Parts: sequence; structure tokens; C-alpha cells
Amino acid sequence: MQRGSKRKRVARGAARRSKSNWSGRARPQDAIALLKADHRQVEEWFEQFENTSSSTRKSDLATKICNALRAHTIIEEEIFYPAFLEATEEEDIHHEAEVEHDGAKKLIAQIEKSGPNDDYFDARVTVLAEMIKHHVKEEEKRDGMFAKARASDMDLVVLGEQLAARKAQVMGSDAEDDEAPRRSRRGGGRDAGMMARDPRRSRAE
Ligand SMILES: [Fe+2]
Ligand SMILES: [Fe+2]
Repeated sequence: MQRGSKRKRVARGAARRSKSNWSGRARPQDAIALLKADHRQVEEWFEQFENTSSSTRKSDLATKICNALRAHTIIEEEIFYPAFLEATEEEDIHHEAEVEHDGAKKLIAQIEKSGPNDDYFDARVTVLAEMIKHHVKEEEKRDGMFAKARASDMDLVVLGEQLAARKAQVMGSDAEDDEAPRRSRRGGGRDAGMMARDPRRSRAE
């Protein structure tokens, strides 16, 4: 009885310390935890998309999915993938992941240009869900990128902080864009910015 009470007090103390250490904010996630949390979030939205017949809801979910995947691909390509390649020299895994991103980005751009009234809108979102499901499986499988990253000497805590900071920046610029007229955004604003930040482009040029 007393031992149990002591355990509870220790647990409560730990919870308090945890909260005060981070000033009430969520504890930072390491890089892989952050990327996996992104995966779970978009999976949930894809499932909701599949289960609704409301055009408004579909449109809202597609916007959330596209924005989240844009931020996710940017932070992986700019920060996590290069660190993974440097630490593991696993070129095949790295290159395949980037090629899969390129395919997803093309579909995301098409979804953003269309809407629920477009005959192909649902098909595009469904195919995107399948592509992302495959890609996530590759990243998270037993011998996949994340497992190899964990086994390497990558500093996943520092990378997690970098990913979180860049993600906040990208999501912030998305929110600013949402206030601009949609037409001007599609005229090359956000996508052009994304391309300009794509490190493979600068390497190729
Ligand atoms: Fe990912
Ligand atoms: Fe990825």
C-alpha cells in the first residue's frame, strides 16, 4: 500500500518536473517520432476523406492533407534525408524515397488545382493515399530508412528540433498564403517557393 502510494508520488513528481522543464509546452519529439506523428495524422485525414460524402468536408480534408504533406516532404528532403544519406550512405533507400516524393508532389499539385466538383478529384486523393501508404511503409518497415537511422549515429534529438522549427516555418507561410487570393497563390507563389528550396534542383543546375 505504502509502496504504491510512493510510486504514485514519484510519478506525479516526474510529471510536474516534465511540465516545468518545458514551460507547459509539449516535450520535443526526436526526428523519427515527429515524422511518424505526421504519418499518423495524414492517415487519419485520408480515412476521414474516404468515409465522407460531403463535398465541403472533402475539400477541407484535401487541403489539410496537401498542406501537411507539403511541409512533411520539405522537412524530410531539406533536413532528414540528407542527414540520413550522410550517416548511412544508403543511396538506394534515399533515392527511392526522393523519387516517391516527386510522384506525390505532382499529384498534390493536381489536387490543389481541382476540387470536389472535378470528376477526377476523388480518384486523385485515393491514389495519393495509396502512394503515401506505400511510402510510409517503406520508411517505417523493419529494414527501412527510420530503422537504419535509429541504428546509425544520427543525432535524432537535434534533428527533431530542426525538423520542428522548419515545419513551423513552412506551416506558418502556408497560413499566410491562405490569406492571399487563391489565384495568385497558384500563379507560382507557394509551389515556386518550394521548388526554389528543393536542394536537388540546385544540385542539378
Ligand atoms: Fe515521411
Ligand atoms: Fe518521405
